[in-house]
Amino acid sequence: MITEQEFHRIVVYVKQKYGIDLNGKQILVNGRMENYLLRNGYSGYDEYMTKVEKNPKGEEARNLINVLTTNHTYFMREFEHMDFMRKVVLPQIKAKEAGKRDVRIWSAASSTGEEPYTIAMVLKDFFGLDHKMWDTRVLATDLSTKVLEQAQRGKYLKEQIDPLPEGWKRRFFKRVNELEYQVTPELKQELIFRQFNLMNPFPFRKKFHVVFMRNVMIYFDDNTKLQLLRKVYDYLEPGGYLFVGTTESIDRKGTNFQYVEPSIYRK
Ligand SMILES: C[S@@+](CC[C@H](N)C(=O)[O-])C[C@H]1O[C@@H](n2cnc3c(N)ncnc32)[C@H](O)[C@@H]1O
Repeated sequence: MITEQEFHRIVVYVKQKYGIDLNGKQILVNGRMENYLLRNGYSGYDEYMTKVEKNPKGEEARNLINVLTTNHTYFMREFEHMDFMRKVVLPQIKAKEAGKRDVRIWSAASSTGEEPYTIAMVLKDFFGLDHKMWDTRVLATDLSTKVLEQAQRGKYLKEQIDPLPEGWKRRFFKRVNELEYQVTPELKQELIFRQFNLMNPFPFRKKFHVVFMRNVMIYFDDNTKLQLLRKVYDYLEPGGYLFVGTTESIDRKGTNFQYVEPSIYRK
């Protein structure tokens, strides 16, 4: 079992680098890491953390993130946001960007890809035959390289794609075998995958029309959340939208976001 001191070292490191607040999650951390350390021949937590801290961009630091992040997600999650996109947001963007035909949407904690692929399907549907004339690629980023690789692979179990409408399953997925389906190259090319830590300065050249930052701020403390929301605000187009998880809310006192409806905000 992890000692208080070993746990504290991990808490401090993970909070400082990635914003994730592990306080009170000693059992979870031990449960996820103990086996990893054993399998990889470490004598204990301190040996491992010394290696991580020596090379924060190295493989072991990446593995720490891959082990410690919670990546749960699924197709059709919070689908009311997609309805809102179709009915309200996309018609506005289509009218406003008719000249440039460039739609910039960011899925900022995209995990294994269900969220950004769903956004891409909504966009394909919405633009229909006009789609070819627009650049609607969705930026999909996550801290964990493991989930990004899975997203890029685009393979899902049959049960995972079951909740999707039949038309989308037929159009955007190919059956690989009895158990698995794979997204079509046509859909995959609509996504741009990048590893990105939300705690870092934003490197984007252009501002976004829409940011999906759902079910990730729950891992951050209030101050970290506020700093992040201010950065997101700065990187939204005027009138741009932010979607957060439906169980999340943002403190509007510290930011300039306008409330639209629960979990939907606007610049
Ligand atoms: C629970 S998933 C949410 C997935 C999806 N947005 C949804 O709502 O279903 C949270 C994701 O946030 C990512 N994450 C945690 N801290 C992060 C950080 N500092 N920067 C970027 N992504 C982070 C995790 O790796 C994980 O994949």
